[in-house]
Amino acid sequence: MSDTPLVTLTRETDIGVITVNYPPVNALGPGVVEGIIDCLKQGFADPAITAMVLIGAGRSFIAGADIRGFGTGRKRLPLGERIYDILDASTKPVVAAIHGYALGGGLEIALACNYRVAIDSAKVGLPEVLIGILPGGGGTQRLPRLVGPQAAMDMIVTGRHVPAREAGELGIVDEVIPDTAGLRDSAIAYARRIAAVRPLPRVRDREDKLIQAKLDPSIFDAMRKSIARRARNQKAPYHCIAAVEAACTLPFDDGIRRESELFRELENSDEARALRYAFFAEREVAKLPDLPRDVTAKPFSNAAVIGAGTMGGGIAMSFADFGIPVKILDSTKEALDRGMERIRNNYATSVKRGSLAEDEMQHRLARIEPVSGYDDIKDADIVIEAVFEEMDVKKPVFAKLDAVMKPGALLLSNTSALDIDELAAMTHRPGDVAGAHFFSPANVMKLLEVVRGAKTSPETLLSATQMGRKIGKIAGVAGNCDGFLANRSRAPFNTEMVILLEEGCLPEQVDKVMVDFGYPMGPFAVGDLAGLDISAAGRRRRAAANPNYRKLPIADRLVELGRYGQKTGAGWYRYEKGDRAPHPDPEVAAIIKHVSTEMNVPRRGFTDQEILRRLLFSSVNEACKILEEGIAYRASDIDVMWLHGFGFPRYRGGLMFWADGIGVRDVYNQIAAWHQQYGERWAPAALLRQLAESDTPFREAKPGR
Ligand code: 3HC
Ligand code: NAI
Repeated sequence: MSDTPLVTLTRETDIGVITVNYPPVNALGPGVVEGIIDCLKQGFADPAITAMVLIGAGRSFIAGADIRGFGTGRKRLPLGERIYDILDASTKPVVAAIHGYALGGGLEIALACNYRVAIDSAKVGLPEVLIGILPGGGGTQRLPRLVGPQAAMDMIVTGRHVPAREAGELGIVDEVIPDTAGLRDSAIAYARRIAAVRPLPRVRDREDKLIQAKLDPSIFDAMRKSIARRARNQKAPYHCIAAVEAACTLPFDDGIRRESELFRELENSDEARALRYAFFAEREVAKLPDLPRDVTAKPFSNAAVIGAGTMGGGIAMSFADFGIPVKILDSTKEALDRGMERIRNNYATSVKRGSLAEDEMQHRLARIEPVSGYDDIKDADIVIEAVFEEMDVKKPVFAKLDAVMKPGALLLSNTSALDIDELAAMTHRPGDVAGAHFFSPANVMKLLEVVRGAKTSPETLLSATQMGRKIGKIAGVAGNCDGFLANRSRAPFNTEMVILLEEGCLPEQVDKVMVDFGYPMGPFAVGDLAGLDISAAGRRRRAAANPNYRKLPIADRLVELGRYGQKTGAGWYRYEKGDRAPHPDPEVAAIIKHVSTEMNVPRRGFTDQEILRRLLFSSVNEACKILEEGIAYRASDIDVMWLHGFGFPRYRGGLMFWADGIGVRDVYNQIAAWHQQYGERWAPAALLRQLAESDTPFREAKPGR
């Protein structure tokens, strides 16, 4: 524990400067709020001080309440009362000086200050909804008074980070200071300028921005309606709206009380626990436990991609989007031109939609350089291979990379399932080779699965994960096996969903259950989007390697009929021209029934719960095998991959967190019963049995090595 005080008050002649110093992000951990209150009181009492500045040391202002304290029973200060009341009762102006982040309770403290200044690069926000709660320190009452209830709801219901300039335009900060000017000095000068202003401006006294909504409260119902789809099954977004509504219907102090009531209803909800878990799981996944301490990542400033197809193009865009120059290579000029055309079209669509500025598109395009030979990429720090998913195509690419790339370059493959060690063996530098499995579309999906081969060096592993983070991905590590971590854990789900059709379900019934559970799309609709021919090719490869591989005759029949999904206008569903909406297809229902009869499988009805559990338990069982084999570092890494790779509903934490909610023993008993009923594919993993016998939750499972 460092001896540096958490909060200090220093005097710059007439200005008191209160500095919060609780690394890394000045969360309001134990002692921080008390420290600020002490310093405020000292400052009020010191006649030489005319105004005060509240500032954060290190990289941020204040990132909010200490999330680790939630749900632990640890007593937190009644944030909604003391510090805000003390600031409201201030006799001298207090200026919040913001850099880095002012989030949650941090922004709420700033809102209770009399003035706010921020440097250009700072961001402010009330992201509580993202951890299943609402701003409980007056944020739902003060923010609408500053920016109006509509803008306040937009911020509070999405939890988005607002850049300083926009915060200035909205009226959240009073002055935006150039990054180069020095925040501390600028804030002191600002405090000196406003030191004599009386009465002191207090956000709680403002009513002007509320008048419109008082006259026309329909904005609240409109907001509820607009979030109905994405907020289904969740309470926090609706409570956020209710709290802002209270700002418009109740006097300030009653509004604060209402906010506290709503906050308490959420704090320990299942949704909040799951979202907090997801928050920490996403930070945990970045930690590589068995890395020697002295390993550092290789710096990188440019990249190259081999293969300008769907994935190669998306990967190149991912680099360009984050300011990194990238060269892209294909085997033919036509394929390269096609790839570049697709990249241009993708960017143009974003410009058309308004999510990307025209000049930014030009900057990004300028960073992607199509090249015609390996000689052009030999100086790249990182190269990512994204050619066809065939060993015989990939192997010569790795041999070539070994011959041309500069020493120390990272040689990464985007394969979804092939053996990384076989690729590494094509080089004289297997330590530099790893998998970098992006998900489709690569420029949109956040997940990057870094695959560790038998000879991948710790330096390569660390460098590949850090590369991921540099281009905005959540990077997790997986061991080398067929399908790695993410796709392997998902594979039994994919099999089971088709077997359910053999036994009596229809695609639309299964999809509805999964959408009701919280997935953005049902698995059959997703299959149509990805292409049924692609999954059929994977099945053929696996069947060739494993004589016991479970065949899926219904899926095969659809592919034989040319029903590849959206791209052919028909797959599990039928599609109307120019429309992506899936329509249940009687022809598919007839095929399903016909194949059931052929297979001699009696058709029966299924409950929603049975469908859900058949799909997810099959994957939980596989995930246990993955942990047992040391393919994953920890159960929470599997959850992170399901959240970011497969659209698992975040407010359910992830596959393993969800299974813990059911209980490891119940999961085991059900899987053991299905093992009796359905045979080998449901054989419980040894780890699952051990966990059940010792009643150890999945999240505490110790992976094998
Ligand atoms: N509480 C506890 N720990 C926190 C924290 C918080 N509010 N915010 C960040 N941390 C920890 C992280 O867990 C991580 O710890 P680790 O190094 O041990 O893994 C460390 O701080 C650094 O965090 P990041 O790796 O996320 O750092 P980044 O620079 O990438 O991001 C950030 C910084 C944008 C501040 C991000 O951490 C973040 O979004 N934090 C959460 C902010 C938040 O949700 N605030 C609201 C809290 S609830 C609240 O205030 C309730 C109030 O209304 C009453
Ligand atoms: P694709 O067929 O769209 O693109 C492959 C590209 O590689 C083509 O442009 C082709 O001309 C080029 N190519 C083939 N051989 C080459 C060679 N020897 N040298 C240079 N270029 C060559 O394929 P897609 O979908 O982009 O897949 C690429 C890789 O990404 C595969 O390994 C695949 O398994 C993996 N992947 C695919 C995902 C998907 O959803 N499509 C998801 C995750 C990984």
